[in-house]
Amino acid sequence: MATWSAQVSILSLLAALVISCAHGTCTTSFTAEDAQSVFIPSDLDQGLVPPEGNVPIAQLFAVGAQHYTSNGTSWVLTNATAELFNSRFEKVSIHFYEAQVDSKGGQPSWMTPCPRSLVTCKRLFAAQVQNNSITWALLKATNSQGSS
Ligand SMILES: *[C@@H]1O[C@H](CO)[C@@H](O)[C@H](O)[C@H]1NC(C)=O
Ligand SMILES: *[C@@H]1O[C@H](CO)[C@@H](O)[C@H](O)[C@H]1NC(C)=O
Ligand SMILES: *[C@@H]1O[C@H](CO)[C@@H](O)[C@H](O)[C@H]1NC(C)=O
Repeated sequence: MATWSAQVSILSLLAALVISCAHGTCTTSFTAEDAQSVFIPSDLDQGLVPPEGNVPIAQLFAVGAQHYTSNGTSWVLTNATAELFNSRFEKVSIHFYEAQVDSKGGQPSWMTPCPRSLVTCKRLFAAQVQNNSITWALLKATNSQGSS
């Protein structure tokens, strides 16, 4: 077994997460500007298009690490963690990926401190959209807690 860590400097994540923003004590939230800045390629693979009724809320930038483990023939993603920032460089969320599928069938998760929420998802579809980017994925929430 060998392990390898990749520093992921900047990568854009497109996630079909709809988070309602509670104002008041929160110092960060998603704005109309965040929603308008979401980059969606005109030739986006149909498998990555979220179901009708979903709307973009923000494009976030991630700084973190992905850990891969070799099984002898391939590098397999074992876990990942990242901090997610909005276009104003405010840290708005934490992303993590666990090796084991959770009891609700999910693996990647997103946690926002404000409004407090935890959303776990399962992958419905994935495709390589840009050569210099990790795989894009369409995710479906399998479990959510808090204001989500
Ligand atoms: C290693 O991982 C690859 C990709 O997931 C898989 O196709 C292959 O069967 C695995 N090999 C072993 C020995 O587990
Ligand atoms: C992630 O994987 C690495 C490499 O296998 C391991 O050292 C680390 O403890 C794992 N982290 C978590 C949170 O499971
Ligand atoms: C990826 O790189 C290959 C080889 O340079 C190129 O042919 C292809 O168009 C690129 N794909 C994307 C999505 O940029």
